[in-house]
Amino acid sequence: MTDDVRDNTWTTLPNLRSSRITGFHKLPLVDRVALVAAWAALSPHEQAMLTYEGLSLERADQMIENVIGLYALPLGVATNFQINGQDYLIPMVVEEPSVVAACSNAARLVREGGGFHTSSDEPLMIGQIQILDVDNVYAAAGRVWEQREALIEAANDSTSSIVRRGGGVRDLELHPLMQTSAGPMLIVHIVMDTRDAMGANAVNSVCEQLGPRIAQITGGRVLLRILSNLTDRRRAQASCRVPAAALGGPAVGRGIVEAAAFAEADPYRAATHNKGVMNGMDAVCIATGNDWRALEAGAHAYAGLHGRYTSMTRWWQDDFGDLHGSIDIPLAVGTVSGATRSHPGAQVAMKILGNPDARPLAEIIAAVGLAQNLAALRALATEGIQRGHMEMHARQLALAAGAPPDLIPEVVAVMIQENRIRLERAKVLVEEMLGRP
Ligand code: MEV
Repeated sequence: MTDDVRDNTWTTLPNLRSSRITGFHKLPLVDRVALVAAWAALSPHEQAMLTYEGLSLERADQMIENVIGLYALPLGVATNFQINGQDYLIPMVVEEPSVVAACSNAARLVREGGGFHTSSDEPLMIGQIQILDVDNVYAAAGRVWEQREALIEAANDSTSSIVRRGGGVRDLELHPLMQTSAGPMLIVHIVMDTRDAMGANAVNSVCEQLGPRIAQITGGRVLLRILSNLTDRRRAQASCRVPAAALGGPAVGRGIVEAAAFAEADPYRAATHNKGVMNGMDAVCIATGNDWRALEAGAHAYAGLHGRYTSMTRWWQDDFGDLHGSIDIPLAVGTVSGATRSHPGAQVAMKILGNPDARPLAEIIAAVGLAQNLAALRALATEGIQRGHMEMHARQLALAAGAPPDLIPEVVAVMIQENRIRLERAKVLVEEMLGRP
């Protein structure tokens, strides 16, 4: 064991099952690790996975092709989260400064109003089979419909692990596309319950398996057989209330509601608003080894589903001036396969979360997205985000200028006071403080 990890000996925290941890960010890194280790009962080996061992080259070489190395990102923990009455520390992998701090702050405010409340849909994924060259698309659709039960039965092969776990194809839907640039085509949707798997492989396999049979039934030519990332049957919902007093008065809440209305009405603003939501959601998705591109694709497609791209969250005020927020968003994440199982860091992140199944994990991620959005809107509707960002920027410059950790706060303070946040200035300050001419 090195200095970077300690045994689970954190003793000063009064209630380890409360995620409301004052001053977590001020603790030395080793103490933060020890605290989280105590929280999640991490073994020294698991702590080492977080800090200096992590993913091995050998394992990485098994994960993707042409591996030439590893690329590390910071793993932080957002504090203060309470979701459905239970406390959580949230592992987040992200390169952007302020995201973890902002998320923790927002969770602290929401905690004052009773925490987040969440729910989620059954884990239903959609697979698409594209059929071309049929004489009559509607007649072909009718023939597929007649075979619906038989097709579902054929798809639910009892040797599939998802079927053994209680999942499988639940339904079949028909979508004629009469006017495309390639002419009319029939799209068959396979609706599949993938249980705790994200399910991409399972859905793609079923689509490929059913393809020839559907070609035979329709007399057409089957082309694409692939899942849809617009997982609108597999959404997670989160809501929260922030008392006006916790926000600093009803005027702040009003500003947030006005900012949210801007994003609802304007796609240019919605894109940025939603980017903030995804800052939080992606970070948990990456930490837990899930496919964040799939998450992004589904979330943005859903935000544009009704003809105009809009915001992923809603905010309003009640008669007492308290602020209410909600999110309802496609969230296809899994817990039983892929990098969630093969990446040692992801396994430890899952343990920090209490090893949730796929649906609770999706709900946690939705709550984090809502928290991240609250933090951004609050900052934007009050002092703006630049002040906090400038501090983080100055910190990074101090680091780049070679400041040792104990000098960083001083270098940052001077640059901010002088309003000269530049690498050259940071270098001069570091030299001066280290007593070098
Ligand atoms: C920056 O990464 C995210 C924000 O731009 C989000 C927003 O504008 O709502 C602050």
